[in-house]
Amino acid sequence: MNNILFVCLGNICRSPLAEGFFRHHCQQRKLEKQFNIDSAGTGNWHVGKPPDSRAIRVAAEYQVDISRQKAKQVTASDFHSFDWIIAMDRNNLAELQAQAENCSTNTRIALLSAQINTVDFVDVPDPWYGDYSDFREVAQLLDTACANLLDTLIDHD
Ligand code: 4NP
Repeated sequence: MNNILFVCLGNICRSPLAEGFFRHHCQQRKLEKQFNIDSAGTGNWHVGKPPDSRAIRVAAEYQVDISRQKAKQVTASDFHSFDWIIAMDRNNLAELQAQAENCSTNTRIALLSAQINTVDFVDVPDPWYGDYSDFREVAQLLDTACANLLDTLIDHD
């Protein structure tokens, strides 16, 4: 039950940060062998590109290196190879649910904020059009959320 895909729109800001933070928390708790962690976007504009430079920089403030990630788009096979697909916002969730209707899948598709208990947000805000302080806020939110998500998924097993 440990293949997990984080999904946002462009796969260059939020989901790469979620992937990096979730992996970091797994490593800190020596659980990295139990999880296969990846990220993707519902859109295809940035496929093959590294994360936004501001996302790389803010992750580094947490000693998390996301610079070698490469953006990809969600594919039909993701609905078979992942146990969990975690959406950053309700638009991503709706898009994923629409795609999942076309294939019979046991993958659990969920909104990040719905899977954790200490939440004061519904959607992870998209920082792409914002400035660096928006990336800092999103990084803080995702660092906490990913630690909580790890607790939830461990309890689930
Ligand atoms: P992300 O942010 O979904 O957090 O990666 C975005 C990045 C790029 C675009 C939209 C959102 N875009 O429209 O290119």
